[in-house]
Amino acid sequence: MGKKSFYITTPIYYVNDIPHIGHAYTTIACDVMSRYKRMKGFDTRFLTGTDEHGQKIQTAAEAKGMTPQELVDKIHVNFKELWKVLNISNDDFIRTTEPRHIRVVQAMFKKLMEQGDIYKGSYEGWYCVPCETYVPESSMGENRTCPDCGRELITMKEESYFFKASKYVPRLIEHYEKNLQGVMPRVRYNEIMSFLRGEVRDQSVSRTTLKWGIPIPGDEKHVVYVWFDALINYATAVGYLDDPRMFERYWPVVRHMVGKDIIRFHCVIWPLMLLALGLDVPVSVIAHGWWTVDGEKMSKSKGNVVDPFKMAEVYGADAFRYFLLREVPFGNDGDFSEAALVGRINSDLANDLGNLLNRTLQMIVSYADGVVPAAGGGGENKNPLDAEIRALGEATVAAVDRAMETFSYDEALKLIWAFIGRGNKYIDETTPWKLQKDGDAERLNSVLLTLYEILRLSALLVAPYIPASAEKIWKQLGLSGSPLSVELDGFRWTDGAGTAVAKAEVLFPRIDLEQWKKDRAAQAAPNEEEKTIEHEPEIGIDEFRSVEMRVAQILEVEEIPRSKKLYKLSVDLGYERRTVCAGIKPFFKPEELKGHRIVMVTNLKPAKLCGIESNGMILAASVRDGEAAEQVSLIAPASDIPLGSRVR
Ligand code: MSP
Repeated sequence: MGKKSFYITTPIYYVNDIPHIGHAYTTIACDVMSRYKRMKGFDTRFLTGTDEHGQKIQTAAEAKGMTPQELVDKIHVNFKELWKVLNISNDDFIRTTEPRHIRVVQAMFKKLMEQGDIYKGSYEGWYCVPCETYVPESSMGENRTCPDCGRELITMKEESYFFKASKYVPRLIEHYEKNLQGVMPRVRYNEIMSFLRGEVRDQSVSRTTLKWGIPIPGDEKHVVYVWFDALINYATAVGYLDDPRMFERYWPVVRHMVGKDIIRFHCVIWPLMLLALGLDVPVSVIAHGWWTVDGEKMSKSKGNVVDPFKMAEVYGADAFRYFLLREVPFGNDGDFSEAALVGRINSDLANDLGNLLNRTLQMIVSYADGVVPAAGGGGENKNPLDAEIRALGEATVAAVDRAMETFSYDEALKLIWAFIGRGNKYIDETTPWKLQKDGDAERLNSVLLTLYEILRLSALLVAPYIPASAEKIWKQLGLSGSPLSVELDGFRWTDGAGTAVAKAEVLFPRIDLEQWKKDRAAQAAPNEEEKTIEHEPEIGIDEFRSVEMRVAQILEVEEIPRSKKLYKLSVDLGYERRTVCAGIKPFFKPEELKGHRIVMVTNLKPAKLCGIESNGMILAASVRDGEAAEQVSLIAPASDIPLGSRVR
């Protein structure tokens, strides 16, 4: 019988942005699982890639003055580079702009159309442009905002193709009822089941409002909706069209790992598409939680986006990988902080693992000439303490295996570290230096061998998580090859006897906390130049365009008795008159303003100031230089131009 196969995928990442901790997290989790499965002897396939079509990409390209193709060609490389830096062992990297994928999307679309599961209709609804989704009225946020990103929704009506999702819902419910692992963890399973038992509407799967997508065969004014396109990548990459044997080998064992925000696409829409296509639905969709940073939501505008390149550079890829999977139970949300990362490096990696390795190697060198002795001078080791350690090793392998089956990475690491911790305690209990002093060679040899075996097994167990460090441990233990190519089930206790160990080297240098804090504080302090100039985060051209500004003239200026700062202005836009409150009283007398031409923002939400409704905002430049009083200057058109002219 052939090997059992295992296929795991990350979401494909949008290339409108640079990679951050969220992307790194999913990919590392998949990498660890792939490496583990390979060590367990599975025929493993691990896929990642980039999602390159759709409105987001088109908008990002416009903002950068590039074509979408230029943008995706440039940005997708960042992801490939990050995966190298983080030691990711993906077997394939798919881009949705590749011909192999475009062909599959068009073939699937055509098949569904021919069998009547895709039909043409028209769609009208509330639409979130950044998320590229229609939002049902029932889940809209306050003031018609997107429940996911909080931005304002727009109404949209377009001719559209629809996928008859509803038709397959009963079959999907039945499938999940029989397959409780279909969605993991359980809380997400329940969420999906209750969604499926509610109203699942047919899905709009094409767009006429955008160009950057896969054309629909025979009706090219439509492009395929980006999610319909993107989900299919998982099938493209294992040869749905081109390689039926590969498809047969991997498709029935596919697992998708995703963030909790995109489970409806993966646990509802995608399986419904697969059912319609007559294909297996995924074995499991595993949803992880979200990272906040120092207790706050990560966002560009807050400037707290964690850069995985930097983390790997400063702390090492392995430490970062370890931290992400150890820190929070998989599935839960977690909080990232560099302080917590440093804490784990010092305690778990440098102290527990690093010290065990160092102490053991030094003792083998000092007490046994650098060669791992056989137990008790060659005989069978009957010592009950050693037997207990060995049993713990075997039990750890089995328990780690169970934890990995349920994607409980933190659990697996806790088990491995309990074993490592037991090793350190074993040194304290057996005091090899005393055995040496007392000349008890028999006991000393058994102890050294036991310690060596604890490390040999630990290197295998940690290998999927911290592959580069595991290889270093392996080398220091004097072993050839790589721990990653050892079959985990083939591990035999005591086989290490007779091996000559190599030179001990520090695996994870301890980070000096005091120095670290000083360095951080120095980095956080702005330099002189930055102190005076505060910059806003970068925006796209569309965001800028959404601010409507026009030329207007100030007709009347009234004092507001209750306010020290505000004037009530009456302004003429040519096509209408408006009342605007402006906080410029300390800087101008009414006669200095009357008759002046100015520039104002006309689409600002009306606001009540001192009981007066203000309908817009006039623009002024202002500066405060040290102790000097604030200077203010109104912005006016430099030459004569009709009132109401747009400012861009
Ligand atoms: N392109 C789609 C996926 C299509 S899959 C067929 C997409 N891309 S994404 O780049 O926006 O997000 C990819 C993944 O990053 C998602 O799984 C999302 O959950 C994850 N994360 C984004 N921010 C995150 C955190 N702050 N924390 C953890 N993961 C987060 O969605």
